[in-house]
Amino acid sequence: MLQKIENLHAAIAAFKAQSKEEVEQFRLTFLSKKGELNNLFSEFKNVANEQKKEIGAKINVLKNAAQAKFDELQATFASTETQNLDIDVSLPGNPLQLGSRHPLSIIKQQIIDIFARIGFTVSEGQEMEDDWHVFSALNFPDEHPARDMQDTFFIEKNPDILLRTHTSSVQVRVMEKTQPPIRAVFPGRVFRNEAISARAHCIFHQVEGLYIDKNVSFADLKQTLLFFAKEMFGADTQIRLRPSYFPFTEPSAEMDISCSLCGGTGCNVCKHSGWVEILGCGMVDPQVLENCGIDSKVYTGFAFGMGVERITMLKYGIKDIRLFFENDLRFIRQFSAAQ
Ligand code: PHE
Repeated sequence: MLQKIENLHAAIAAFKAQSKEEVEQFRLTFLSKKGELNNLFSEFKNVANEQKKEIGAKINVLKNAAQAKFDELQATFASTETQNLDIDVSLPGNPLQLGSRHPLSIIKQQIIDIFARIGFTVSEGQEMEDDWHVFSALNFPDEHPARDMQDTFFIEKNPDILLRTHTSSVQVRVMEKTQPPIRAVFPGRVFRNEAISARAHCIFHQVEGLYIDKNVSFADLKQTLLFFAKEMFGADTQIRLRPSYFPFTEPSAEMDISCSLCGGTGCNVCKHSGWVEILGCGMVDPQVLENCGIDSKVYTGFAFGMGVERITMLKYGIKDIRLFFENDLRFIRQFSAAQ
């Protein structure tokens, strides 16, 4: 029996296969039901008890060697098989679908680029904020409606923490940390407890702008925003400032641009007025500067805030704000950064 095991070891080691058929032959000879190994196991029953341990171990080693050899032979032919398949490796592959950027990302980047050309850097704040940075530092009185649960998402366990309702909170963060000159834009997501419709969403995006230095005037604000409007909507674009109110700017204004869709002659988008509102702005209230540790006797500045959705809708003629958040690829694939 020991001799037989030796011989089988030698036969297995010496076995060479030239084809898949010969690998199958190996399996039949050694590993199949009627193969040599099974024969050995049958004979094993007759081995004397004192020899069982030694011979049993040897048969197991043999069995493992046979299985390993079989696996190896199979692997060789498996790989040559694929190589021999009728594949034309020179055929072009299936191109991977390139993603496209979301229209809001495209327009946000264009806004940032326009302001970068006139020296504005970029900062980002945080979406979850405290009352001080969103309201108190910006002069919102205690009874202001924005502080109401109806308008703002508060964190239940701690009503001092809320989802920011505007990016003006980043003005406060930046002014607290930096002494003027400050010239920066702050893009970001904001949240308001509003009913969702074609024109309003509870999540949207803003780009805030802040410019603080010595002798900054309302004329600087106007020129900066005129530059922006022309770069964004075309050289013929006109702007119009209407007096308005924000607790943190004085004076405050809302800015309209001549309707980019009808050129000012009147259409649905501008409700036949020829003008569309795109942002709020004003001179930073001296009290806000003081709240943030900036000397209002030395420095003045302006701020503005615009909705990215609104500008994107105007640029591309999109009529429903909800499309931005549905992620329907048929919509999203229509935009490319080159536009
Ligand atoms: N934060 C204001 C809004 O969300 C916009 C604004 C920004 C107005 C900066 C004035 C100055 O409506």
